Amino acid sequence: MIVVTGASGLLGGALVRRLRDRGEQVVTLVRRAPRGPDERFWQPAEGVLDPQALDGARGVVHLAGAPIAERRWSEAYKRELVGSRVDSTRTLVGALRELPRRPEVLVSASGVDFYGDTGDRVVDEGAGKGRGFLADLCGRWEGEAREAETLGMRTAQLRTGLVLSGQGGSLGRMLPLFRMGLGAPLGTGRQYWSWISEDDWVGATLHVLERPELSGPVNLTSPSPVTNAEFTRTLGKVLRKGTLPMPVPGFALGLGLGEFARALLAGHRVLPRKLEDSGYGFAHTDLDTALRAVL
Ligand SMILES: NC(=O)c1ccc[n+]([C@@H]2O[C@H](COP(=O)([O-])OP(=O)(O)OC[C@H]3O[C@@H](n4cnc5c(N)ncnc54)[C@H](OP(=O)(O)O)[C@@H]3O)[C@@H](O)[C@H]2O)c1
Repeated sequence: MIVVTGASGLLGGALVRRLRDRGEQVVTLVRRAPRGPDERFWQPAEGVLDPQALDGARGVVHLAGAPIAERRWSEAYKRELVGSRVDSTRTLVGALRELPRRPEVLVSASGVDFYGDTGDRVVDEGAGKGRGFLADLCGRWEGEAREAETLGMRTAQLRTGLVLSGQGGSLGRMLPLFRMGLGAPLGTGRQYWSWISEDDWVGATLHVLERPELSGPVNLTSPSPVTNAEFTRTLGKVLRKGTLPMPVPGFALGLGLGEFARALLAGHRVLPRKLEDSGYGFAHTDLDTALRAVL
């Protein structure tokens, strides 16, 4: 049995479907009244989770967190972004502590934002934490998840890049403009975006779950990050739409999106060293093929 949090989300939904297709029993932690025998109630922000909900699990995958890109980042919302991740992880680890027989592994979400703006520099899991709100958020989130190591559990933190999904997420938010031929590079367009197809994200997460030798941070990105300008060109080509020649200036993005604009202008040239070294075979290694598969 695998326990999944954030299961109603883009990635949680895709993971739960794949696990169940493979015949795995999945229990999801829900923040509303449970609707069936495979759901258990928790209040992640309030520290409420009956340890019995985790009893018998061989692994826990923790994906819950308030959406990063859906609202402007007021100070209150920034507290929610952090709290929904850090407090929920603490709640989970607290319940794991109470269990006499614990799952083998806690796989917990994080992001390539951990590395901060890396510019053109290529980074793998050996790189240190960068600067900025999201880097700090990821650092605290990962630190809380690693507490489960003190319980004798294996932990892995999924430093996920931009997940390409046909069901929504960041790509879903970009599509309407691109479909009108209004896609354009952001800022200089030279910042690297590390992407991964949804199919590979699910495959890599299962790989991490099953591989006892994988622990600590694991980059969930394709081996071929591209610049934002190349991403823009490729998406326009796949949709058979032109893109605007003029980039959207950074200051205009800032006016429209507030502090979140910094996340879009930051470069992450991240390589999936641990996935590759442990033999994970990517389904999609080039952006054109991945976008065609997803769209
Ligand atoms: N998608 C990406 O490209 C990407 C990239 C890097 C990192 N990540 C991280 O990976 C995780 C999953 O991503 P996703 O795209 O599936 O996110 P998502 O679609 O926004 O889903 C996240 C889930 O978290 C739960 N949630 C929402 N607000 C919450 C709150 N205030 N407190 C506690 N739980 C809350 C919800 O599940 P329930 O209603 O079922 O509780 C929600 O469905 C997230 O933590 C995200 O930051 C995603």
